Amino acid sequence: MASKLIAFVAAALAITAGEASPTAGHNSHKRSCVQIEVPVPIDTTAIRWQQPRVDNNIDAVDWVRFHTTRTTPNNTELMMGRIPIKGTFKITGQLCVPPKGAAARSDILHVATHGAGFDSRYWDAEIKREEYSYVDAALAEGYSIFTYDRLGTGSSEKPDPYDVVQVNIQVEILRYLTELARSGKLVSASKTLGDCPDKRLKTYKPSKIVHVGHSLGSIISVGLITNYPTESDGLIATGFVMTNIPLPGLNLATWGFEYAPENDPVLFGDRKSGTLVPATKSNMQLNFLRKGTFEPALLDYAWKIRQPVAVSEFASLLSGFGTQGALFKGPLHMVVGENDYGACGGDCTGTYDLELIKATYKGAADVDVHIQPKTGHGLTLSTNATAGYQVSFDFLHKSGL
Ligand SMILES: *[C@@H]1O[C@H](CO)[C@@H](O)[C@H](O)[C@H]1NC(C)=O
Ligand SMILES: *[C@@H]1O[C@H](CO)[C@@H](O)[C@H](O)[C@H]1NC(C)=O
Repeated sequence: MASKLIAFVAAALAITAGEASPTAGHNSHKRSCVQIEVPVPIDTTAIRWQQPRVDNNIDAVDWVRFHTTRTTPNNTELMMGRIPIKGTFKITGQLCVPPKGAAARSDILHVATHGAGFDSRYWDAEIKREEYSYVDAALAEGYSIFTYDRLGTGSSEKPDPYDVVQVNIQVEILRYLTELARSGKLVSASKTLGDCPDKRLKTYKPSKIVHVGHSLGSIISVGLITNYPTESDGLIATGFVMTNIPLPGLNLATWGFEYAPENDPVLFGDRKSGTLVPATKSNMQLNFLRKGTFEPALLDYAWKIRQPVAVSEFASLLSGFGTQGALFKGPLHMVVGENDYGACGGDCTGTYDLELIKATYKGAADVDVHIQPKTGHGLTLSTNATAGYQVSFDFLHKSGL
């Protein structure tokens, strides 16, 4: 089981690390966006996991050993009980509406959840935005878009990585953000950071919400539609595919985890026990990029914006899924790089059964898998990224989104 968890982990995770300024630079580019801090009330339970503590690099490597050892108890056996989680967490995000002239779809809101190792900057690379930024591509297509820093990353609150930062808490946060956006109060219920240049933002109320995930963010978004199928009108789950192949158990090890504050005391001095980052830029390359389809500047960027992941996000990867996927009615697009190392062991061709996926989401308006050619796990940081976004947009258009 340990190896199963690991394979899934790598499949699910997107690691990069970075400094806490996810919105820096956005103003250099004329867009109608507002940065906000949303208070998110949570009242649920998390799981207490049996796992080694991580307080230094030696612990971090031992934590990987624990989770990858053949005879380590399986994921279910590592659950030690439930912990009540009640509190309000600050989540930072950015809401953007498209330019007025091109606003044919402005009432459709994309809510994007990034993966492990990144914060919301994953969706909005500050290098050659027109070639990489998902935010720019969505706005150009006429959509509105909300991106946010997952709990524990970027400028969002960073509670306990053992008992609080877990997948099902992230699912509850996404659910709350979705409901707040649907009610038209996303901005008015939040603290505005900086200026709000466009009056449309303050009262923005979408008629439809499409969720977009990457990696762990896809797991969280799938967690949303399988627990609360009516919360979403469509899902694009990227860096994610339901495979039917056994994956090698070494994927967790390829992250090359170190203890975040020891790996970089300047970037991560404020992080707590239980936070992990990939040790080197080469670990980032192995996890996210494939030679031939990335520019070195984007690898440098991924390394610069890398973010720690919480130990219990890995432990809880499989426990956020619900059982109501068949009740989800929107279109579902799974998108994975052909050479995604974590999701498919480096070659996604022939690793999934579309009919099986359709059977799991049998109420969905439309289901498809797109393989982005010659690309690694880090889809938004790879060349030809925007052609891949267009495939998803065209898929949504078929269902009137
Ligand atoms: C985990 O171990 C328990 C107890 O040994 C067993 O009942 C269960 O089937 C195992 N689960 C998985 C997913 O292997
Ligand atoms: C770019 O992506 C599109 C959409 O997936 C694909 O059709 C095209 O072949 C890709 N181009 C290259 C050079 O890989």
